[in-house]
Amino acid sequence: MKYDFDSIINREGTDAIKLTAMMENWGRTDLIPMWVADMDFAAGPFVLDAIRRRCDRGILGYTCKGDHYYNAIIHWINDRYGMSAVKENITFVGGIVPGIALAIDCFSKPGDKVLIQPPVYHPFRNVSTAYGREVVTNPLMLENGQYRMDLDDLRNKAKGCKLMILCNPHNPGGIVWTKEELQAVAEICAKEHVMVFSDEIHADLTLPPCKHTPFCMISEEARQNTVTFMAPSKAFNIAGISASHVIIYNKEWHQQFEAFLERGELNMGHVFATLCVEACYTEGKEWLDQCIRYIQGNIDYVMAFLKEHCPRIKAIEPHASYLIWLDCRELGLTPEQLTDFFVDKAHLALNDGYIFGEEGKEFMRLNIGSPRSIIEKAMKQLAEAYKRQGY
Ligand SMILES: Cc1ncc(COP(=O)(O)O)c(C=O)c1O
Repeated sequence: MKYDFDSIINREGTDAIKLTAMMENWGRTDLIPMWVADMDFAAGPFVLDAIRRRCDRGILGYTCKGDHYYNAIIHWINDRYGMSAVKENITFVGGIVPGIALAIDCFSKPGDKVLIQPPVYHPFRNVSTAYGREVVTNPLMLENGQYRMDLDDLRNKAKGCKLMILCNPHNPGGIVWTKEELQAVAEICAKEHVMVFSDEIHADLTLPPCKHTPFCMISEEARQNTVTFMAPSKAFNIAGISASHVIIYNKEWHQQFEAFLERGELNMGHVFATLCVEACYTEGKEWLDQCIRYIQGNIDYVMAFLKEHCPRIKAIEPHASYLIWLDCRELGLTPEQLTDFFVDKAHLALNDGYIFGEEGKEFMRLNIGSPRSIIEKAMKQLAEAYKRQGY
């Protein structure tokens, strides 16, 4: 491999949330952090060089977004996903969650209903309720170790909703939706006049042979009914750079969103944001391919390890990204006991499943975006605790 994903980088002293918030959450710091969704790998040298080059110039004044920034995004998404986007479809936002919050504020009003599919990335619910919207849930169905959508329930629940936040691919399940599922969502939402926000932050981490389908590519109708959120933050591990983009093909909606942001100059960003986006999308393909292979290696290792040493913890195989959703129902523990097992017995910090909705309450989310040696150490600790507890 040309790039190094094996070296352990000490994140202490960098204010990494993954480390600093451990004390706040669990009252201790002696846990292997496997929760917050960033990876423990260094950002690619092309990103670090772009930042360095700009620092060497010493110029950090007001900066606009040049055509080279838009062209880098356009080339990346058109090449990978055939999205045929143009500059006029793209708007900068400083992060996906802030972008979703802004779009909720722009396109709906307090009291409007927002549809989500739990267990799902918890800010979808938190942001919606924080903005006074009512959350409607269309829970996913877990069958034979894989999730699918409950489309009959969606047909009923969509009635009267203003918008739906789709997680595509889905976190925490690592699900790559089938075209048929996306088509059904598109038809239901168009029929019921439900606008679709498609959060595609994990798209570039889709694991071969699976392929990502942007929701807006399902049909012309879907294209006109979608607000797509994308970013290099997850795939290239630059979440701290807060650089994302919103893609809207519906001309009226695009103008409405741009005007909404302009009012408060909310689309400014910072000087390194556009530089980093451009560096990832123009120079990062090889790094990303290798990173994906490394992630797949970690997933294979964890899946095989759990099967052998912790058979009552069933890992749901992710088809995108570096998060593994662990079905712990066979352990028969309450959510508190489950946290206690992972934290106090195995000394691991995972995300508790219940934060993703009550549907996740006997599950845990494991982040395997770390050097293999850390993953091996974590699995050993888990197996020892599992054995000690007599599971
Ligand atoms: C589905 C999804 N959307 C958004 C985010 C966060 O995006 P940002 O940090 O750009 O707000 C995450 C992070 O884990 C995520 O999984």
